[in-house]
Formats: sequence, structure tokens, C-alpha cells
Amino acid sequence: MPLTMTFYSKKTLLAACLPAAIVMLIIPSIDAQNTPSTRRQVTVGSQGPMPDHLKFTTTQIDGGGSVFLQNCAFCHGKDAGGGESGPDLTRSKLVNSDKDGEAIGAVVRNGRSDKGMPKFNLSHADILNLVAFIHSQQDKVMSQTGTRKGVDESDLKTGNTEAGKRYFESAGGCTKCHSATSLAGVASRFTGLQLEQQMLYPRNVKSKVTVKTRSGQSLAGTLEYEDEFTIGMKDAAGVYHSWPVNAITFQIARPVEAHVTALSKYTDDDIHNVLAYIQTLK
Ligand code: HEC
Ligand code: HEC
Repeated sequence: MPLTMTFYSKKTLLAACLPAAIVMLIIPSIDAQNTPSTRRQVTVGSQGPMPDHLKFTTTQIDGGGSVFLQNCAFCHGKDAGGGESGPDLTRSKLVNSDKDGEAIGAVVRNGRSDKGMPKFNLSHADILNLVAFIHSQQDKVMSQTGTRKGVDESDLKTGNTEAGKRYFESAGGCTKCHSATSLAGVASRFTGLQLEQQMLYPRNVKSKVTVKTRSGQSLAGTLEYEDEFTIGMKDAAGVYHSWPVNAITFQIARPVEAHVTALSKYTDDDIHNVLAYIQTLK
């Protein structure tokens, strides 16, 4: 604790006087999601005190740019300035207060699945590069004045339905879990940006978990809570159970991960084409 205090008191007078403020600084984004999983710190390349955030090399920034384009740009926009279904990261307070990737890293690793932000299983180096890219985009925007581009909903209507159907049935692998029949009506329940969001990363999809306790008892149910220490599930009767991870063996099946995998495969055209096709499933 004394170390942390020295670290922050250099920057924040408030933190030097007010222990509560220190706690808030150490626990970024805790207001965003009230679960213990955001409470743990993910330290990415922490190198000690730096002015606002770490200085990154152009290699890191460029590397991060391509990881971003492949995994994040669909939702957050190519320049991180906000996209069809993700917020503007250059205006994000969380990004602004992030010093060395601890806050951004936590969001990327844990996701906010109830809010439409997937979790990603990326290497430490990729995450650090992403952090470099996002910070450099924010620096750029902050040093500029002027207007930002808005989200263009008409962009959602530019796909080719036939090409989208082909992608859905072959390269996209979507028919492993879906068919036109099983998805029938989705385009009536959602339209425009919501439909795109639901297609890219459907919300509130429960994962299945099977648990074996030390005493040999087996249970199966839906995964209700997960962080690095704890697993919580609801069994078929709706009863909640939870265990420390080291007291059980468990297996989790996450159907929604197919969507996260798809994100890194889609080209821009694929997305627009598949969306055009999905829009026909009324
Ligand atoms: C399927 C759409 C989608 C994808 C893909 C996506 N995000 Fe997000 N992201 C969101 C949404 C929606 C939110 C806002 C969640 C909320 O309201 O708390 C968000 C929030 C965030 C935040 C927190 C912003 C804040 O101010 O709280 C960060 C940082 C972030 N995303 C980074 C990334 C990175 C890096 C990637 C790529 C590895 C990525 N996101 C991929 C949809 C997405
Ligand atoms: C491993 C299985 C799996 C794969 C592969 C998969 N999905 Fe999904 N998808 C799901 C699950 C589970 C849901 C949650 C809703 C449900 O159960 O239908 C879902 C939801 C959706 C929804 C929203 C449905 C609704 O009613 O809200 C769309 C649209 C969708 N997926 C499109 C796709 C597309 C496009 C692909 C291929 C790129 C794809 N999915 C691949 C499992 C999968």
C-alpha cells in the first residue's frame, strides 16, 4: 500500500489525502460492472510512474492497429472513434484514466457480456499493443478540435444478400448452430444497429458448465458467475451453487464464443453481406 500511495500521490493530490480516492484509482471501472471479476487488476506492462500513460513505440501502435482492425473495429469503428455497436473509445473516461493498460486490459479480458462487449482471449503482447493503439488514438483526438464522424446507419444496408447467404452456409460456419428456420423472426425482433449487435455478439447467452466436486459429485447447469477464483452455476432446478475454482474440476461450453471467433474472421464485406442476409429473416 505505501508503494501505491507514493505512486499515485505524485499525480493526484486528492489521492495523497484521501485513502478512499486511492482505492477508487486502483480499482478502475468498478462502477461499470459490479462483479468481483472487474475488481482484480490486470496489469499489462506496468513500468512504474509515467506522465499520463505509458509511452509506446510505433511498432506497438501499428501492431495494435491491426489487432484492433481485426477484432474491435466492427463495433468501435476503425479509428476507435465509435462504431455501429460500440462506444467511442477516444472519448472514454476509462481509457483516459488508464495508465498502463490495467483498465483496458481488464475490459478486453473479462468483457461485459451483459452489455455487448465480448471477452477476448488475446496474448499479453496483443493486449499491450491494443492499449498502445487506443491511447494513441485518444491522444490524436484530444490534440484535435473539430467534429467527429457519426454512426451511419445507411451503411448497414449496403450488403449483398446472396453473398451473405453463401457466407452463412459455408465460410462463416454459422449453420453449425443455426439455420434460416432457427433464426426466423430475428429481423423482426431487432432492426438496424440492434440487429447487427445481436448478430455479432448476442447478449445474455448462457454458457453451460459441468462441475465435479472433490467428493465426486457431478452437477450440470448454466454458468452464472465466473472469475479467476470462483465458479457459480444454476442447476436444472434453478438452485444456485458456487465453489472456489481450486475445489472442483469443471468444463464450460460457451456457444457465444463462436461469435467472438467469427469477429476475427469477418472482412468488412462479409459483415455487411451476412447482415443483409440476416435482415431477410423476418
Ligand atoms: C460486438 C461489439 C464489440 C466488439 C467486437 C468489441 N467491443 Fe469493446 N465494447 C462494446 C460495447 C457495447 C461496450 C460498452 C459496454 C458498456 O456499456 O459497459 C464496449 C466497451 C469497451 C471498453 C470500455 C469503454 C468504457 O468507456 O467503459 C473498452 C476499453 C473496449 N470496449 C475495448 C475493446 C477492444 C480493445 C476490443 C477488441 C479486442 C473490443 N472492445 C471489441 C462492444 C464491442
Ligand atoms: C457454436 C454455435 C454458434 C455458431 C457457430 C454461431 N452462433 Fe449465432 N448464436 C448462437 C447462440 C447460442 C445464440 C443465442 C441465441 C440462440 O440460442 O439462438 C446465437 C445467436 C445469434 C443471433 C441472434 C439470434 C436471436 O434470436 O437473437 C444471430 C443473428 C446469430 N447468432 C448469427 C450468427 C451468424 C451470422 C453466425 C456465423 C458467422 C453464427 N451466429 C454462428 C450460437 C452460434
